[in-house]
Amino acid sequence: MVNVEARETISLNGEWNAIIDPSGSGDYRQVWLDKKPQLKTDFFEYSFEGGPVLNVPGDFNTQMKELNYYEGIVWYKKPFNYSVKSGKRVFLHFGAVNYLADVYLNGVKIGSHEGGFTPFQFEITEKIKEGENSLIVRVDNRRLPKGLPGVGFDWLNYGGITRDVDLVETDVSFIEDYFIQLEKGSLNTVLGWVRLNGNQAKQEVTVEIPELDLRHVANTDAEGFAGIEFNMKPELWSPSEPKLYQVIIKSKTDVVIDSIGFRSIEVQGNKVLLNQQPIFLKAVNIHEENPYKRARAFSRDDARILLESAKELGCNMVRLVHYPHNEYMVKEAEKMGLMVWNELPVYQHIQFSDSLVPNKMENMLNEMISRDKNRGGVVVWALSNETYPGTANRDKELIELSEKCRANDSTRLVVHVTNSQTYRDHTFDIQDTLFLHSDLISINEYIGWYIPWQGKPSETKWKVAFPDKPIFISEFGGEAKFGNNDTPQDEAANWTEGYQEQIYLDQIEMFKTTPNLVGVSPWLLYDYKSLGRMHPVHQQGFNRKGLISEDGEKKKAWYVIKDYYSAEKDQIPK
Ligand code: GCU
Repeated sequence: MVNVEARETISLNGEWNAIIDPSGSGDYRQVWLDKKPQLKTDFFEYSFEGGPVLNVPGDFNTQMKELNYYEGIVWYKKPFNYSVKSGKRVFLHFGAVNYLADVYLNGVKIGSHEGGFTPFQFEITEKIKEGENSLIVRVDNRRLPKGLPGVGFDWLNYGGITRDVDLVETDVSFIEDYFIQLEKGSLNTVLGWVRLNGNQAKQEVTVEIPELDLRHVANTDAEGFAGIEFNMKPELWSPSEPKLYQVIIKSKTDVVIDSIGFRSIEVQGNKVLLNQQPIFLKAVNIHEENPYKRARAFSRDDARILLESAKELGCNMVRLVHYPHNEYMVKEAEKMGLMVWNELPVYQHIQFSDSLVPNKMENMLNEMISRDKNRGGVVVWALSNETYPGTANRDKELIELSEKCRANDSTRLVVHVTNSQTYRDHTFDIQDTLFLHSDLISINEYIGWYIPWQGKPSETKWKVAFPDKPIFISEFGGEAKFGNNDTPQDEAANWTEGYQEQIYLDQIEMFKTTPNLVGVSPWLLYDYKSLGRMHPVHQQGFNRKGLISEDGEKKKAWYVIKDYYSAEKDQIPK
């Protein structure tokens, strides 16, 4: 179900009762039955009442000291009242739960979901009761070898019901989904569709854009599907002019209103074209963490803090790493004129040859595209980050995933990120055949931090197996602790701002002679929590590659990028 925010919803956000279950006894005790003593001799060794209370949305790690590093099971309970309305259907919608969710309503299991960063829902029309209902969710954020991501990743494994929970009420027949975007390569033809759910009698659906005085009529087929195609001359969305149109989708029994930006994004030769004009992508990497709260970001306010900071840096794109962020991030970015790079948590070591992993990747891809496909601000679907070329089935599965992505949505760039290039004799050698299936050659490189320079940055040589394909530097940078200006500044082990600043100055020198460069993305905007960063003086469990500290203090390197982005033209000559 797309665009939940625009529908009839009842929020279940707020305080939920919780049972922390590190030993996993809740399964054996069947706590979802939420039994209460009836006889004088009855007793149960669990109770949701009288226990901890957790706020939803939000990660559980930052709500209780005992959960600070917790990776395990937490049972959540939300009692709520409901008055059944005849002729209405009811759905239970989760913005995300990290990582495994088992959902019970009034003691009956209604479904499960795997994946910590994409929305899911269950129809509960026949299961919800008049009056008091009890919703119980088993959340398990333990890392899984066959998970997405796998067991190793460089961010804090925040668990919990991390995003909004809503009841959604619809008519028997409602507008379940729609895709309204410009056709690939066109500036004036919308090619999309509308899909109804329930009572599939053929009927008229309309798409209206009042500001353009446009009303398009289509007819659904027996499955409730209607193709949409019409011409228009919209003001195109762009970072400098983030124009959004009110789009009203109507069926006989439903109306859904969206706010959609229309633009074209494509690769032509060694350039990226936005609205058929070459553009230089001035990006920054952002994890879904509110730095000031040191917690999972989930709200519109959290999104604005992160995105306004990216705007202040001079960005025209944000790479939302390494998983789909909450919907507020995507919608607010579009309103603010920031292009969005959406990414799947197919991160580093993935068990591609496991029989279930390809299906998990496809499900997560579909959930990501389904939620954000109408967001004109989204320009990239990134399907993997730093996977290992030697892993069995890695190429096969990622090539198939690329094809599925293009079949699902042909209007955006499809990208894989690798760090499989070599850097020897001051030469980058890029050979990864995965780039044959990626619209950009997107590489992460940390020359100047993990690997010392082997020569003058401006004299770096490039050996690229895919000549004339655009190159995007999706990660670069190094660590520094804000305010650390110890001497000597030229020693990495001091974590000084000066050392980080020099990395950025050198990288920009290299960019000036990098062939086919279409954009860069510093790693990353803010220092963020990652428990593998263990230096007790300089890191304290934070990855300190931020341009800004977790207290909002700009490091010297921030000013280097600010100047670079101010000087670099958005539009580059054709
Ligand atoms: C990698 C990876 C990031 C990681 C970064 C680092 O390239 O993509 O997730 O945090 O390097 O080492 O800091």
